[in-house]
Amino acid sequence: MSELVTTSREGDIGIITINNPPVNALSPSVAEGILSAVQKLVADATIKGIILIGGGRTFIAGADIKEFGKLTSGQKAFDTGLDPLLNALEDSPKPVICAIHGTALGGGLETAMACHYRVAVASAQVGQPEVKLGLIPGAGGTQRLPRLAGIAKALEMCAGGESIGAADALACGIIDEIVKGELLPGAVEFARAMIALGGPPCRTRDLNDKLGDPATNAPVFAMARDVAKRKARGLMAPFKAIEAVEAATTLPFAEGCKRERDIFRECLFSDQSKALIHVFFAEREVAKIPGITKDTPRIPIRCAAIVGAGTMGGGIAMTYANAGIPVLLKEIDQPALDRGLATIRKNYANTVRKGKLTQQQMDERLARIEPTLSFERFKEADIVVEAVFEGMALKKQVFAELDKVTRPDAILASNTSTLNIDEIASATSRPQQVIGHHFFSPANVMKLLEIVRGKQSSPSVIATSMELAKKLSKVGVLVGNCRAFVGNRMFDPYVREAQFLVEEGAKIEEVDSALTGFGMAMGPLAVLDLAGLDVGWRIRKEHRDTHAGRKPFLAEDRLCEAGNFGQKTGAGWYRYEGGGRSPNPDAERFSEEAARENKITRRSIPPEEIVEQTVYALINEGARILEEGIALRAGDIDIVYVYGYGFPAGRGGPMWYADTVGLKKVYDRICQFEQQHGKFWSPAPLLKELATSGKTFASWSASKSEPEA
Ligand code: 3HC
Ligand code: NAI
Repeated sequence: MSELVTTSREGDIGIITINNPPVNALSPSVAEGILSAVQKLVADATIKGIILIGGGRTFIAGADIKEFGKLTSGQKAFDTGLDPLLNALEDSPKPVICAIHGTALGGGLETAMACHYRVAVASAQVGQPEVKLGLIPGAGGTQRLPRLAGIAKALEMCAGGESIGAADALACGIIDEIVKGELLPGAVEFARAMIALGGPPCRTRDLNDKLGDPATNAPVFAMARDVAKRKARGLMAPFKAIEAVEAATTLPFAEGCKRERDIFRECLFSDQSKALIHVFFAEREVAKIPGITKDTPRIPIRCAAIVGAGTMGGGIAMTYANAGIPVLLKEIDQPALDRGLATIRKNYANTVRKGKLTQQQMDERLARIEPTLSFERFKEADIVVEAVFEGMALKKQVFAELDKVTRPDAILASNTSTLNIDEIASATSRPQQVIGHHFFSPANVMKLLEIVRGKQSSPSVIATSMELAKKLSKVGVLVGNCRAFVGNRMFDPYVREAQFLVEEGAKIEEVDSALTGFGMAMGPLAVLDLAGLDVGWRIRKEHRDTHAGRKPFLAEDRLCEAGNFGQKTGAGWYRYEGGGRSPNPDAERFSEEAARENKITRRSIPPEEIVEQTVYALINEGARILEEGIALRAGDIDIVYVYGYGFPAGRGGPMWYADTVGLKKVYDRICQFEQQHGKFWSPAPLLKELATSGKTFASWSASKSEPEA
């Protein structure tokens, strides 16, 4: 018996416990361990029933995702390896009860469904999240789930990927009972009751009542496909999951399983799945920071304070309140404070209206936000986040004040989107406590938090910030201190090229639709309108570009001079009228004028070229950021773009995408752009080096993180 799986007994009940921390991933050794435990207990005449339970914090969180790389690289022959185990569980003549706590996900839920009965604690979650990895359930999930929960629920779970709680799982038939007290004794009691009932154990594969008929199923499948079309943004796995569930309704169980396996295989070998698996691991890798260990002291965050209740400050206060952390919210005067609070209330009320929050939850969250006009209670704050207007003089003034009114051990964080953290820190007597916490708008929604490390930010402040990000339901990415950090620094050349393309002859909507076609959540020009064109315009007015050659942002500057700041003024690159939008003819006219000034001959531009010119600009800047050490790894940049800028996860992020296109091809095209368009396109030295040596950003990053010999 492997140590990963142990057996014990409680009278005539055999108990199989899985011990593969941290999440009991179903690796081949775990599957073999459970299989031999089942065989042993089935052969033991003194055993009447079997319980399968997870040791540690969870049941099985899925197949071991690390194994998938071995299958696609040809290191191992294709086989999920789970069939013998699931057959043995289901064919056991003695009832097998699965006892669930934590999460039963993917292969975990598939294992649970092959057992005869399932009990769970009330806090347990179950789900088939494979689509999030570009996959479908590959061990009978699409065949057993509809048999337990019905077609509609199976479609929702397999194509949507979200998990559900124990109460929901009980209501739809996935589990049989919620255990009130401790899980194992409750499962033993349930097992005894099933043994007492007698009769053959209930095999999920034999349940056909919930499979429906072609006439009633047709609209359910049509609706699932509609939902997938709206949400999938070019991802194929949700449609494949629907196809596999459909097979459960048209084929006998064994053939349905075979069909599922074929589709699973097709997905596993797809570029989308490889990209999404990269995103899964990159998201976890960002938490690993050289020099920070589990022994690095963390500062407990029990109370926070925010300075500035504008667009960002209000959203940040909500983020803290949502995470259960009380927060002081300070403004300069009562009208500003009232405005900020009214926006917060309106945002919460909208969420209540959509049914995603109860009135009681809204009230509790609001009660955690304490408005104030003074620094009086700032001594209570373990962290202060500054979100006042963007300007160095004001930021320094606020930080000098914060230095006086907070405890010396409090963290002082700035939400600046461009300014130098070290200079801000210099206004305090504790630069080691100062750090950037760059939230993205809307701060209560967007998952990304860029954590900007100053020269003197202490390991403890960095470690606390990273953990805090998780507590706030954000993905924290540690970045270095440079102008605009990672995300916005890369965004600048991206939107510059989007605008150059309009000058060069592409239509406004052609630029945006080429990029949404590529998978971006929004086109770059629509994003600019949403964020406000005046932001960049004001910065450019302060830092005039005096270089010779092609002038960027000419049309946008003219739009701003005419008072068109984007959505907030009703016009920018688009005109916003009657709830819709159409390209702004003024923006087109200004772009034509800019083309004349920049001596550009206009032409029509195909979508592929639009994508190359914008996305390669992102990649080139990303390569510089990587080389300068502003991002720790290529994967960190990918996470910034997937979670902060709507880059399609199915393409893995800009750096992963570049690796998949091939760095030589990207580099050659950038050299062509340099010849064609000039000064903005000099290739990043790292890109050139990797392209000529046949390497990738991923391999370069991996070699950098290897400990030095
Ligand atoms: N395989 C391998 N490693 C896994 C894993 C899995 N299924 N799930 C989590 N891990 C690893 C993580 O990489 C991380 O490793 P690290 O500490 O070295 O970085 C560690 O376990 C802890 O994970 P988290 O940091 O994510 O822990 P959380 O507590 O925040 O979240 C979780 C736990 C909700 C289980 C989350 O890890 C998760 O969503 N995991 C993936 C679940 C999943 O997608 N399952 C389906 C897999 S595919 C499948 O089963 C195919 C089947 O149909 C054949
Ligand atoms: P905003 O103009 O909406 O809000 C700023 C608020 O700060 C105003 O309500 C103002 O009254 C208040 N304020 C000014 N001085 C103050 C002081 N001394 N004490 C207390 N309150 C004071 O600005 P926004 O957009 O919220 O930006 C704030 C910061 O966040 C800036 O540094 C900006 O660069 C950054 N940021 C903005 C993003 C955005 O999309 N708007 C995204 C990420 C960062």
